[in-house]
Amino acid sequence: MTAQNTKKTGEPALVRLPRHIAIIMDGNGRWAKRRGLPRTAGHAAGSETFRRVATHCKNLGLDYLTVYAFSTENWKRPPEEVHAIMGLLDRYLHEAIEKMERDGIRLRILGDVELLPERLRRLIRETDEISTHISGFQANVCINYGGRDEIVRAAQRYAERLAADPGAGALTEETFSGLLDSSGIPDPELIIRTGGEMRLSNFLLWQAAYAELYFTDTLWPDFGEKDIAEALEAYARRDRRFGGI
Ligand code: IPE
Ligand code: IPE
Ligand code: MG
Repeated sequence: MTAQNTKKTGEPALVRLPRHIAIIMDGNGRWAKRRGLPRTAGHAAGSETFRRVATHCKNLGLDYLTVYAFSTENWKRPPEEVHAIMGLLDRYLHEAIEKMERDGIRLRILGDVELLPERLRRLIRETDEISTHISGFQANVCINYGGRDEIVRAAQRYAERLAADPGAGALTEETFSGLLDSSGIPDPELIIRTGGEMRLSNFLLWQAAYAELYFTDTLWPDFGEKDIAEALEAYARRDRRFGGI
């Protein structure tokens, strides 16, 4: 019998809720293709899904939701598609700035923002500023994010710190975590990938060390409350040993 089917039928097994879920939002392009629509229509639908899922996660009582919106590798896509995704992120942040305080959703952007269009960087600075006044649920949106890139930038920060202060102290896992984009955010207990692929695609490589992984064939624009409930139930049934017995 696998861990998956040990649950007795009937009542939901939400006894153990993670504090932090991370999602690789994949399948927008295929969702659009199946409908005879351009890939960009899939991204537009996907950004609506993100709005719904973030609100639902907040209502469930999670503390953090981290989503992969644009990877360091996604620049390889056709310029029109990259432009459309940047436009959607721009629109999302613009709207979020107006609603963040009312909705009680703090936003943080993870990734190398230096390479993003100036307009988007300005919106990111604004969301950072507003977020300092909000407490409670936090959504982290990874834009121009790559796990390896994040680790290299953290190593560069440490080298700079050491150059400025040779007595800066030994490098430990804890101090290194504090130099990552995700500084201060607890590691996700659960990472979900939609769209059927079973890989991390450079997402949260450091933070995923002991995350439970959950893969679903559901394409991101179709992902909803039922899918979240299924993922959370699967998570609650997992036996997390962290190397112990
Ligand atoms: C995920 O959907 C969104 C981004 C990577 C920006 P995709 O665009 O990768 O959709 P598929 O995988 O091609 O279906
Ligand atoms: C991962 O999806 C990146 C995001 C969801 C932003 P991709 O579609 O880019 O991943 P690969 O290319 O299938 O690995
Ligand atoms: Mg994809």
